[in-house]
Amino acid sequence: MGDLSSLGKTIADLNGEMARGLASVNDTATLEAFRVEYLGRKGRVSQLFKVLADVSSEEKGEAGRLLNELRDGITRAFEERATTLSGCALEERLTRESVDMTLPGISRAIGHMHPLTRVQREIESIFLRMGFDVATGPEIETEYYNFEALNIPADHPARADWDTFYISDTTLLRPHTSPVQIHVMESTSPPVRIICPGRCYRRDAQDATHSPVFHQIELLWVEEGLSLANLKYVLELFTREYFGEGYTMRFSGDFFPFTEPSVQVHIKAPGASRWLEIMGAGMVDPAVLSAVGYDPERVSGFAFGLGIERMAMLKYGIDDIRAFLTNDLRFIRQF
Ligand code: DAH
Repeated sequence: MGDLSSLGKTIADLNGEMARGLASVNDTATLEAFRVEYLGRKGRVSQLFKVLADVSSEEKGEAGRLLNELRDGITRAFEERATTLSGCALEERLTRESVDMTLPGISRAIGHMHPLTRVQREIESIFLRMGFDVATGPEIETEYYNFEALNIPADHPARADWDTFYISDTTLLRPHTSPVQIHVMESTSPPVRIICPGRCYRRDAQDATHSPVFHQIELLWVEEGLSLANLKYVLELFTREYFGEGYTMRFSGDFFPFTEPSVQVHIKAPGASRWLEIMGAGMVDPAVLSAVGYDPERVSGFAFGLGIERMAMLKYGIDDIRAFLTNDLRFIRQF
């Protein structure tokens, strides 16, 4: 080497080869491979620069100029090709992604609250407006909270009224929300004014009115000077708010170990002849107040427990409790 004219010829050959090659490059991956082949750190252009070492000092300037020109030319050619290719790519993408405004839109299914959640929230909001707080308690309970503290000692026949799923000898899935009364009273001093919504479990065979999993709302108000008259007033307000005007209400005697007296509450729709049971209620038994360290001589209270499923069934005319859990969208969507 060392001969300027032979360098000139090599450069011309390389240029020609490069131009022909570049013209047939049609995608960016090939273009990148092309760039590496010519302009990469160990590419053909860099290799050629090595001849400068052998060129005589008089010719070095000219040889350098030629080589720089080659490199700049190839760089330009490469960039032009890149621009052309990305232009084509854009055009192709625009065609491919063009929007057909006449097609129908994609509608997304929007969910809504389950009817039981709705009813629960509705009942909560009625009592929140009356000044009650919402409390919750565990679904796995001990016998103490579920029975003993509620005045149902071991071996008391009343335990049989709750068909309870036992987890161990002393723990169980709560069959009612009444144990929440105990948790709340243990951790607060009177006055107490709460409702406790939640899931309950019973060893019931499933049919149109029974479900092993269901929901209740418990209410508890303990303060000085409360009587059955206060319970009646609260229930009348609730009935009017939840069911509507014109309902009549009836108390009849019942028995629950944790209330004395205990009542069963029925309501009757305007013009209807049938009484519908809506809940069990009563004045909190002094034994329950004593169990949590309250003084039954000083404070009294009342409580009730109602079934959320039952409330929903009465309000919406649903005749099968299983509908709430079978997840049939034709049912769910009606709410
Ligand atoms: N816990 C009772 C049940 O599940 C319902 C009940 C009755 C709750 C009377 C009360 C009450 O708070 O006072 O059968």
